[in-house]
Amino acid sequence: MEAKQVTERGNWGSKIAFILAAAGSAVGLGNIWRFPMAVGQNGGAVFVLVYILAVMLIGFTVMLSELTIGRHSQKNPVGAIERIKPRSPWKLIGYLGILTGICILSYYSVVAGWTLGYLIKTATGSFKGQLSGHLTDKIFTDFSANPWLVIIFLLIIIGVTTYIISRGVKSGIERWTKILMPMLFILIIFLAVRALTLPGAEKGISFYLKPDFSKLSGKVILFALGQAFFSLSLGMGTMITYGSYISKSDNLVSSAGWVCFSDTLIALLAGIIIFPTLFAIPGLTPAEGPGLVFKVFPLVFAKIPGGTIFGILFFSLLLVAAITSTISLLEVPVAYFVDERGWSRTKAAGLMGLLAFLLGVPSALSSGAVKFLTKIDFSGWMDFIFGNISLAFGALLICLFVGYIWGVKRAIGEISSGNTRFKLRPLWVFSVKFLSPIAIIIILFFIRTIAK
Ligand code: PFF
Repeated sequence: MEAKQVTERGNWGSKIAFILAAAGSAVGLGNIWRFPMAVGQNGGAVFVLVYILAVMLIGFTVMLSELTIGRHSQKNPVGAIERIKPRSPWKLIGYLGILTGICILSYYSVVAGWTLGYLIKTATGSFKGQLSGHLTDKIFTDFSANPWLVIIFLLIIIGVTTYIISRGVKSGIERWTKILMPMLFILIIFLAVRALTLPGAEKGISFYLKPDFSKLSGKVILFALGQAFFSLSLGMGTMITYGSYISKSDNLVSSAGWVCFSDTLIALLAGIIIFPTLFAIPGLTPAEGPGLVFKVFPLVFAKIPGGTIFGILFFSLLLVAAITSTISLLEVPVAYFVDERGWSRTKAAGLMGLLAFLLGVPSALSSGAVKFLTKIDFSGWMDFIFGNISLAFGALLICLFVGYIWGVKRAIGEISSGNTRFKLRPLWVFSVKFLSPIAIIIILFFIRTIAK
């Protein structure tokens, strides 16, 4: 019965295919757009340091917990909790995840749409010739304030995501990630080397890598923790859903480790491209906000022979990385409606996609197109509420659920299938029961003072 169900739901082709797909969900705009923005707005290197600690101590713990719940139950987040602890309020984890998924998808797709716009801009020669920070700033401001363009690009991104999701997990997700993720990685390394060798790069490196501890604050810690969850796709059940497609013989611990490692590496490399360039070419400041990478990357391409080709390649790969993430955001609600409510995949994907689009419109218009939405920073608030608070709260509930409701013993039983010698066991148990929940509670508790 169990085996039959697994086959019908689809399974990953192999362990490496799973790692690539999970890394495909994790690696995206979170690494290349949101991470540098957060570093720039939160004091530079000190944020980077707290971020790395957050990934190692808390992110990895939650990642392993989610994958374990998923593989054990072979279900979507709501069904997974129901199977482990029937008729309990803990199902909230799943419902919260569905809501969070749709809300993140809405504004995330706006930025993915900008990426598509920039791909077209690069290909049509907008960034040829002498570029300054002031010019790329103006190009971004004009572009993001054009209401029709941003909405059309948003529609295209959500349309493509909906189409891929309606076709199902394996044919949809696996195919994209296998070749394109490694390509993105190689291109990023190349660009990082170029950025590091720009005259005047040292200032940027020191902003990025030399911590100034006077800048450490509750806000820095909250945003670093939120960024860790966002970047690793944690706290809303994505990794429960993806874990549900992993085979029993795979090693969950090393899979979790690889996903955390590759995701963090790409984010760190993105910073190595952004900050040296930013400081080497005048006209921009680190705290640029959502436009940061769109203003800085064209400056790197302008410094490379054949820069247009590199620009086209970069924005295409970033677009694919973004889409492997949007599909994982949409997969959470869709898996729920298909598994639990008996909807067809097409209907579930279509309706959820439509909802995300409608919610995305005000976000799309909040970067200059509509004064009121821009002034209240609609998309910034969406990102703060769903991309930080809601993911952190979801991660807290997941730790408590695994640590105290399901119980670490039973979770370890699941982890042991595929990994009989779970060496990190004492550390993981300590983190899932005490360290992670306490750290998240403290941070959430101080949120009102932090947000000020
Ligand atoms: N991790 C993705 C990124 O860094 O771009 C974004 C994301 C995907 C967040 C899926 C949450 C999620 F469930």
